[in-house]
Amino acid sequence: MTERDVTAPGAAGSGATGEGAAGAGLTGEGAAGSGATGEGAAGAGLTGEGAAGAGLTGEGAAGPDVTGADPARSDAVGPDVAVPESVGLPFASGREADVYALGDGRVLRRYRHGGDAAPEAAVMAYAGKHGFPVPEVFRAGGADLVMERLDGPTLAQALLAGDLTVDRGATILADLLRQLHDLPPMRDGETLVHLDVHPENVVLSQRGPVLIDWRNAGDGPADLDTALAALILAQVAVGAIDHELGSHAGELLDLFLERASGDPVRLLPEAVEIRRGQPTMSPEEIEQLSVAAARVRGVK
Ligand SMILES: Nc1ncnc2c1ncn2[C@@H]1O[C@H](COP(=O)(O)OP(=O)(O)OP(=O)(O)O)[C@@H](O)[C@H]1O
Ligand SMILES: [Mg+2]
Repeated sequence: MTERDVTAPGAAGSGATGEGAAGAGLTGEGAAGSGATGEGAAGAGLTGEGAAGAGLTGEGAAGPDVTGADPARSDAVGPDVAVPESVGLPFASGREADVYALGDGRVLRRYRHGGDAAPEAAVMAYAGKHGFPVPEVFRAGGADLVMERLDGPTLAQALLAGDLTVDRGATILADLLRQLHDLPPMRDGETLVHLDVHPENVVLSQRGPVLIDWRNAGDGPADLDTALAALILAQVAVGAIDHELGSHAGELLDLFLERASGDPVRLLPEAVEIRRGQPTMSPEEIEQLSVAAARVRGVK
């Protein structure tokens, strides 16, 4: 397979710092409200809120004591990583959260509409403890998660900047999923899944690709994780989600499908249902889910 780059004319963000705007081409209801944020807010748009599937949360995960603070308290961040009263403007944003630099190599990720970051912090800590590349978590409580700051572009930014080939991008996505599914389970007989693997949720840091945004992570079938990753790429590929990656997402999808472990179509209907249930999906995006699913099955 020939390697191609996807340098897009006028692509926003240099891809060199991870602070450039990645989501400049996003439109529709799903686009992040990054207009409220300051410089270089990276509006995300490939994902929706919250997994709909039952039993997919990280609740009760047996991670280290990263959630020592009372998760019910929104101010439950320890004095060692105290969040200043004013955290300034976020340097990046997704659909659900804003991310602020705290200095000392740490960031604060804060849900805009409340929520509980403790369960995902526990899953992240568990994965990190077993050698999976995640940001180190320092403390989580209420809507706040304090973690290691990753320096580098997202996979989407690097593709758009021409700093990463589609071929390499597909391999990174497939490898991250494989490595995650091979981790020792948090609970016997289960598999740790992320359920939101896409090019905006991978940061190409100096220590390699790191998976972020663990809100949907927990126990679940590996094939569902792979199907969701494929479906999200397909939504962009068929134009159901308007994203700068555009048709390059189709090339990324085809290569991803070649490389992904397991069976990416076995649980595709379940993946469609999860996407359908995500509140950030617009009616138009939902309407085109079947077209995207067909694209995963090879219909072009
Ligand atoms: N630890 C980190 N270090 C540096 N940048 C980060 C870190 N975590 C997140 N970011 C930046 O913030 C952006 C938004 O983060 P994140 O994906 O967690 O938010 P979200 O609102 O959950 O996103 P989504 O729209 O996918 O739901 C990321 O795309 C990335 O650019
Ligand atoms: Mg995200």
